[in-house]
Amino acid sequence: MLKNELYLLDILSIIIITKTILGGLIMKFNRPCSFDFDLTTGLSSSAVSKKRYLSDLKNMYQDEEARLKIESRLTYEYYDLGLPEEAGELSFGTSILYPGKVGNEYHMTKGHFHQRIDTPEVYYGLSGEGYMLMENMEGDVCWEKITPGNAVYVAKGYAHRMINTGTDPLVVFYTYEANAGHDYQTILDKGFRKICLDNNGPVFVDNPKWKE
Ligand SMILES: [Fe+2]
Repeated sequence: MLKNELYLLDILSIIIITKTILGGLIMKFNRPCSFDFDLTTGLSSSAVSKKRYLSDLKNMYQDEEARLKIESRLTYEYYDLGLPEEAGELSFGTSILYPGKVGNEYHMTKGHFHQRIDTPEVYYGLSGEGYMLMENMEGDVCWEKITPGNAVYVAKGYAHRMINTGTDPLVVFYTYEANAGHDYQTILDKGFRKICLDNNGPVFVDNPKWKE
């Protein structure tokens, strides 16, 4: 067989395998299904989590020097189960934010707006303790406590970020319309108006790095 024909066969095989995997994933959600999530660790044995390290949060903490020294630290992980990002679908999963600080600033997630700005989200606390920090484009800022058994409603239009102020992993279950989309860039560019520092306990103060 010619070298070119072998090459073509390789490409065809890759296409067929990729289509089979993608087809399988889409088929999976055509019928009811279930996933396990541990109530304490938040981890699932039936899905693979996405991991975020301090290296993924460049310039997001006040003390960039402190972050650089520990940037290989796993900060949080969450599940993206691969639901089709289509109207009528619901994305869901757990998010696990590990305890710790960068300087005197508590561990936090990147935070984001939804690309479809009118899409809300629900977070339900499973274990650990912390806050959901939220703000909208008009400058309304608020934060709600996340504790086991407490559900936080992130109203449409509000960017949201989890903050772990405790000593255990902060574990939540979340769900939102699957076609919400994520806008991380606005937060990367501007930051949140408030930050959460440890001053003998959590305090929210103005973010000196915030850009209008
Ligand atoms: Fe969200």
